[in-house]
This record gives sequence, C-alpha cells and structure tokens, in this order.
Amino acid sequence: MAELPKTWDDWITNFGEWQDRVGFDREWLGDFDLSILFDWDRAGDNIEFGDYAGHTKWERALQVPHQNIRDALIAMITVQGDTEFASVEQQRHLLASAPTDYDRYAAARIMAEEQRHGWQMAYLLMTYFGQQGRREAQKLLERNAQDGDRLLGAFNRPMPHWLDFFCYTMFVDRDGKYQLGMLSTSSFKPLAASMGPMLKEESFHLGTGSNGLRRVIKAGVIPLDLLQRYINKWVATAHDLFGTDSSTSATWAYVWGVKGRWDERKKLESGVDVDKDALNEESRGHYHDEIVKEVEKLNGYLPEGCGVTLSVPHENFNREIGNFGGKKCTIDGALWEGSDEEYAEYLLTVLPNAEDEKALKELFKQQWVEDKPMTPRQTASGIGASV
Ligand SMILES: [Fe+2]
Ligand SMILES: [Fe+2]
Repeated sequence: MAELPKTWDDWITNFGEWQDRVGFDREWLGDFDLSILFDWDRAGDNIEFGDYAGHTKWERALQVPHQNIRDALIAMITVQGDTEFASVEQQRHLLASAPTDYDRYAAARIMAEEQRHGWQMAYLLMTYFGQQGRREAQKLLERNAQDGDRLLGAFNRPMPHWLDFFCYTMFVDRDGKYQLGMLSTSSFKPLAASMGPMLKEESFHLGTGSNGLRRVIKAGVIPLDLLQRYINKWVATAHDLFGTDSSTSATWAYVWGVKGRWDERKKLESGVDVDKDALNEESRGHYHDEIVKEVEKLNGYLPEGCGVTLSVPHENFNREIGNFGGKKCTIDGALWEGSDEEYAEYLLTVLPNAEDEKALKELFKQQWVEDKPMTPRQTASGIGASV
C-alpha cells in the first residue's frame, strides 16, 4: 500500500493518480464539480431506531459509544465507497462506444457522480475515523474491479457493452438507491447527511437504465429473448447485493441505529414491526417488488401482438450468496430436478451465451437504441464532450 494520506489534500492527490490509472481523463468531467455535499436538515437530530433511539445523533466518532459501532460504520462507509470507484472502473471503457451523444453524456455524468460519491465516503473516513479511516480511504483507491478485488461480486463483473450498461444502471444502481436510503436515517449524522445529495444523483442513474431499456425496446433491433437474458443476468447479481439472509451484521447495524430499513421513517410512523433477523430479506423484497413494476412498465412499450412479455427472475435464481447461494434454481425459483449437465444447458437458455454476444456485435452496428436529443443545459455542461 502507498503511504497513508495524512490530510484530505493528500488523499485528493492520490485520487488524481487513481483517475490516471483507470484512464479517466479529468476533461471528461466538463463543468462537474467533485465536491463534498451534506444535507444536514434531513439527517435528523436524534437517533431514530435501535437501542440508542432518542439520544442525540453522533456527529463525531468519539461520541460513538463503542469501538464495535465505529468498526461497523467504517465497514459500511468503506463498502459504499468501494462500489462507487469500482463502477467507474467497470464503465470507463464504454465512453468510447456510446451509441448516441446523449448516452455518452449520461455515462460520463454517472461516472462523475460515482466519483463524487466515492469522494464523499473517503471524506468521511479521512475526517472522522483517524488512522483506521485513513487506511480504508487509501485502500478505496487501490482495489480494482479489473483485478477482481473490489469488495462485492457485482462490482468485479466485467461490463463489456452498452446493453450490459443499461441493465446495470436499471438494476444494480437501483440497489444503490436502497442502500443509500437505508443509511439516510443513520445514527451517525455525517453519514445520514451525505445521503440526500447522493440519492438525488442516483435517481439519474436509475433513469438512465429504465430510459435506456425503453429506447432499446422502441428501436426494435434487439431480440426480446436476448434482452430477457441480460435482464436475468443483472437482476440475480443485484439480488445478491442485499447481502446474506439472517445477517447478524444487519441486525447489529439496526440495533445500533447505524442502518435502518427502507423507508424507516414511514415504517416508524405507521408502526410497522421490525424483524431484526431478516433485514436483508426485507429490503431485497422491496427492491424485487420495485423492479417487477419497472419491468411491467417496459412491457408497455413492446410492439403490439409480439407475444412476449419481459419479466424479473425469482429471487432464488442464480444466486451466489444467501440461502439459495450456489443452488441450482430455475428463473421461477424452483429447485432444479434434473442433472448438472441439464442445468448447464438450461442456463444457456436463460443467461447470455456466446451466440448472444456474437449477435450483439452485429446488432450494435444498427441504430439499436432510439436517439434522445440533449437539452441545452446538458450540452453546455461539457460533461463527456471531449471523449
Ligand atoms: Fe453512487
Ligand atoms: Fe449510481
């Protein structure tokens, strides 16, 4: 590991080296400002749930009553920051092959915002968590998605092309929305206050995904069975991102008020009981319901009489972690009853295969995604313009 950054400025210098290493040209940021943003008003003054409910929210690490809680905070901020930089490493190469000017702008803006999110998490680590925080802030710049050593599986997966990118922003960034939402009520006030601005930016990323897939459908070039396989691929990955079932770390995070449920404030107001042993399952369930609705909306754009509807695979399908991790399940969630060989054959029909990749290379030469004009403000931002 490189020498630990002592100050925020040191870390920024190291961040510049990371940009150079992953090949992200600073010019591509246009007028985008990599800055630290807090929304203190919405962060809440008092701890909202768990054993410390009613106490004043912690504003400095020294106010956090136990080292275990500090460790949990550091771990959570680190994982969040790690995903932000990882996604830039996964996506950066796509700028050169953007199907339209708008898409190049959108991808460059997403990468700019993910960098800002990573900054924000590094800033929390550097500012509030001493030597341990500085070490983690530095490591955020040293793990690499291309080497496969980012902390979460989804963020080490290669994203070869733009159909992957649209599915990724639709499904994987949407997991991010849930994680940020659950941290927005955190007992650690600087973390809670970081979430408002990040959530606002994140909504553009989800929109890029849903809008992109809608434009893909409208262009009518990509076969729908092929599109379904890419949906299956990224949904399974996104389901994993909610963590293991019956997670004790999720339980503790709740008990300490560090990380809440999705829509925690609403749930508290209406008295929805918490099941502390199934927190990850609960948030995954909300996420699943949301993507089912999103895919239903996409179905509204399918050509009439095409005889196909797109769908979301069951939560058991192709999971790497959780109760169904490594188990052979169908896209409907049933355990596979045939042989391993037959299952391998089955997966070729429901996940992207070599033929799909080959077909896409040709299809990408056509106008495979409907064009979208840029607004004057987007053009003036200069984001992605110099790619
Ligand atoms: Fe982000
Ligand atoms: Fe994002």
